[in-house]
Amino acid sequence: MVEKLKKLWLDGEFVEWDQAKVHILTHSLHYGLGVFDGMRAYKRADGATYVFRLREHIDRLFDGCKMCFLTPQHTREQVMSVCLEVLRVNGLAEGYLRPIVYVGEGAMGIYVPNNPVRTAVLAWHWGAYLGDEALKSGIRAKISSFARHHVNVSLAKAKMCGQYTNSVLAKREAKLGGYDEAILLDTSGYVSEGSGENIFIVRRGIIYTPDLSCSILEGLTRDTIITLAREMGLTVIECRLTRDQLWMADEVFFTGTAAEVTPVREVDNRAIGDGTVGPITKKLQARFFDIVRGSDTSHPEWLTRV
Ligand SMILES: Cc1ncc(COP(=O)(O)O)c(C=O)c1O
Repeated sequence: MVEKLKKLWLDGEFVEWDQAKVHILTHSLHYGLGVFDGMRAYKRADGATYVFRLREHIDRLFDGCKMCFLTPQHTREQVMSVCLEVLRVNGLAEGYLRPIVYVGEGAMGIYVPNNPVRTAVLAWHWGAYLGDEALKSGIRAKISSFARHHVNVSLAKAKMCGQYTNSVLAKREAKLGGYDEAILLDTSGYVSEGSGENIFIVRRGIIYTPDLSCSILEGLTRDTIITLAREMGLTVIECRLTRDQLWMADEVFFTGTAAEVTPVREVDNRAIGDGTVGPITKKLQARFFDIVRGSDTSHPEWLTRV
């Protein structure tokens, strides 16, 4: 359950948490067109709170809106400063921020050009998405019977609300089957991503991840890990991957704002490597956490102080 905070921001003003209601006629509720994003704020070793990659998350939100013909009533700069304000107003030193742009009530039917485009920003406490143990020891994943949307069926690069039914169904299937997370293939059978994470494999010291022409979200944690790995002298290849490459990998891990850097110790009941967290995953995970929560100051451009 999301723990109730004091206030959230809705269309230009702060409203009490319990008053933040939407009308049942809200168009996005029925038809799914809306765009959201998610970012984390961390308390670092210097005692201050920083939002990780705030500008890029808001850029992705606005890029998604552009692709969906949604014109937010507020600028990128306004939404960025609201994100910081939401944390301050709620006294949140660490948490998850969720801006969402959606189509409000008015007309019904598929084409509603005059319904209001609304924007909300809220935050909540969110610990390790897949659990603390998952970060330490890794998770068990299963390839889903649901394929990721074909690139011409939906917009993989947008965090579009309705698109997430695909993720929700895949995740439910995986959990009901006794696994922690789903891995989705694309409609041609190549590896796409997790229900809410990008995926990486390591084989013979080389890191591989699906390239951006695949049906994947352009994850900011993905970009962070690729940058850090290359800085650490590791080779990263972005290319199409097959299911058997997952099974043969020495290491597999997920990246995401929610999932951070989560090792995968088993895929489809096959142990990855020796079934424990591999050395490259460990190194990248440690560097990631040192940047977001520790004292590594090598990427000040990724951190916005609250
Ligand atoms: C489908 C999907 N893929 C990948 C990611 C990871 O993206 P990011 O690292 O920007 O959070 C997310 C989460 O936002 C997601 O929902």
